[in-house]
Order: sequence, then C-alpha cells, then structure tokens
Amino acid sequence: MIPQEAVQIVEVGPRDGLQNLKGYVEAENKISLMRLLGESGLREIEAGSFVHPQAIPQFRDISDVIRGILDLGGVKLTVLVPNLKGARRALESGIRTLIFVLSVSRSHNLNNVRRTPDESFEELKKIKGMDSAYPGMEIRLDLATSFGCPFEIKVKEKDVLCFVERAGEIGLRRINLCDTVGFANPRQVEQITRRCIEKFPEVTFGVHFHNTRGLGLANALAAYETGIRSFDSSIGGLGGCPFAPGASGNVATEDIVFMFNEMGVETGVDIQRLLKASQYLKEILPDVALMSALFNAGLPGQAGLSDKNPG
Ligand code: COA
Ligand code: ZN
Repeated sequence: MIPQEAVQIVEVGPRDGLQNLKGYVEAENKISLMRLLGESGLREIEAGSFVHPQAIPQFRDISDVIRGILDLGGVKLTVLVPNLKGARRALESGIRTLIFVLSVSRSHNLNNVRRTPDESFEELKKIKGMDSAYPGMEIRLDLATSFGCPFEIKVKEKDVLCFVERAGEIGLRRINLCDTVGFANPRQVEQITRRCIEKFPEVTFGVHFHNTRGLGLANALAAYETGIRSFDSSIGGLGGCPFAPGASGNVATEDIVFMFNEMGVETGVDIQRLLKASQYLKEILPDVALMSALFNAGLPGQAGLSDKNPG
C-alpha cells in the first residue's frame, strides 16, 4: 500500500531542459517561463547554471536571468555550479542555494567538468568553506550517473554510497541521486534509495530521472514507495546533459504532477496553471517537440494542447 504523503516537485527545466537545446532562449523568456511555473504552485526552481559560457552558451545570460527573477516570492531558486568560480558568481548574484554537480563515474565527470570525481569533491569542500561568509547558504549535491554512465555503463552502488558518506561527513544534508542518461530501472531505484535512506537518516534524498528509455515515472514511483519525497522534473520533458552522449529529456513535470495528483498525493501544483507554462514554452520554442504525454494528450475529457501551436 503506497503511503499518501505529500511530495515536492522540483522544476529543473530552466536548467536541465534548456541546457540541451540548440537555440538560445532570450533571458526575458526564461524569466517569464519561471514566473508561470511559480504561479502553478511549484515551490522550487533550478534557474540555470553558473558555468563557463563556452561550455553551455545557453547560460551566458545567467546573471541577467537571476537579476530578473530574484523577486519571485514563495519560490526557492537554485542554480547549478560545477566549481568554486561558479559558486562565487552565483552567491554574488544573490542566490543562496547551490546545486553542486559531481558524477560518480570518473569518465562522465572528466567529460562534464574536466576534473576527476575526487578533484570535484575537493572543490565542493572549498565551496562548503564559504558558508560562514554567506549566511543562509545551502549546498545540495547532485550525484550524476548514480544509476549508470554513458561511457562506463555500470556504476557500482558502493561508489554511490561512498560519495553520499563523504558528502555527509562535510555537512551536506540534501543529496539528489541522478539518472543522467536514463539507465535506471525501478528495482535498482528501490534498492539504492532504500539503502541510502536506511544508512544515512540525517540526509534528505531526492531523485532526478530522465525518461530516455521510458522508465522515468516507473522509477519515480519506485522511489516514492521507499520514502523519497523530492522529485526533479522538467516542463515539457525537455532535458539532457550535453556532455553525456545519448542523454534526452527529464521526466516531464506535467506528467509527474498528473500522476501524483491523480493518486491523491499532494504536490501543491495546479495542473491547469502548469499547462499554461507548457503552452508558453511551446510558444517560445515552436520547433521543439515537447515530450510531456499529458501536454500532448490533454487532461481526461480535454483535447491536447500541442496542436494549438503546431511546430
Ligand atoms: N563560470 C565562468 N567561467 C569559468 C567558470 C565558471 N563556473 N569556471 C571556470 N571559468 C573560467 C576561468 O575563469 C578561466 O577563464 P580564463 O581562461 O579567462 O582565465 C577558464 O574558465 C578556464 O578555467 P578552468 O578552471 O581551467 O576551467 P575548465 O576549462 O577546466 O572548465 C568547467 C571547467 C567546469 C568550468 C567547464 O567544464 C564547465 O563549465 N562545464 C559545464 C558543465 C555542465 O554544466 N554540464 C551540464 C550539467 S550536468
Ligand atoms: Zn538531468
């Protein structure tokens, strides 16, 4: 019997969704999209990344975007940072919750941020050391490739647990287990999340699934059953790491909200309002196919919305 406890849906579309697009989205469109996402009831939005502008040109405007969205009331804004320089830039912009990305797999970490996982961990420790200078600063760890790697394929569970333990030792209390390339299956998700929750009760775990092989929602439900209550998802099902071959979209926010709402699990998100954000996304990206099944099919008894703005 699945417990009926509330969940938090964390919107990562403005970061994970937009980073993999070929075209640039204007800063003002990014800001308008986030305002609509906030109006739907989403309480946490990953607004982009403080990365090298040549690595991901989409985020060359990140400082302007943050300036334009910092007043968004009731929504926790986070950004991805790959290193100390990114963390400094983010904190200077006014952001206080940083998502540090580290891949459990050595090959993906090297490809993504040109550091070994241990070198990235040293960087994480330096960022953690900045918290006395920035009251209210919080670091979350995104453990990329926790369920598989595009280069090494298998990732050992003990390696995932090892990084969780090390992050706990330096005082981190929020860790996301990320399926960067959509390799995870529900049984594996159940095992790893259960082990993490049992072994590290002081840490709050979230999950981040890509729907590359169609298992995103099944994995989310498996994680929910073991006690996970925080789920990353992306509006329109956009997403993917440009430094992970074969990566494609995240679990769509519309679909995961629909699933939990229909099950009677509180998400705090108004699905009709959320679909306004999807429609806006389609307007600003007319040539991009949105991968949300709910957006394309419509709510039960209503027509799908995707045809109204044919790409
Ligand atoms: N933001 C902006 N500029 C940065 C930066 C950051 N976070 N980190 C480093 N730089 C600049 C340095 O100042 C330096 O500039 P200079 O040449 O003018 O002196 C230059 O980049 C090289 O610095 P270095 O530390 O050697 O970085 P690198 O070239 O090894 O690149 C990353 C490392 C992490 C910055 C880069 O690989 C990156 O941004 N990757 C993006 C990863 C990502 O977002 N992946 C998808 C999400 S999972
Ligand atoms: Zn992702």
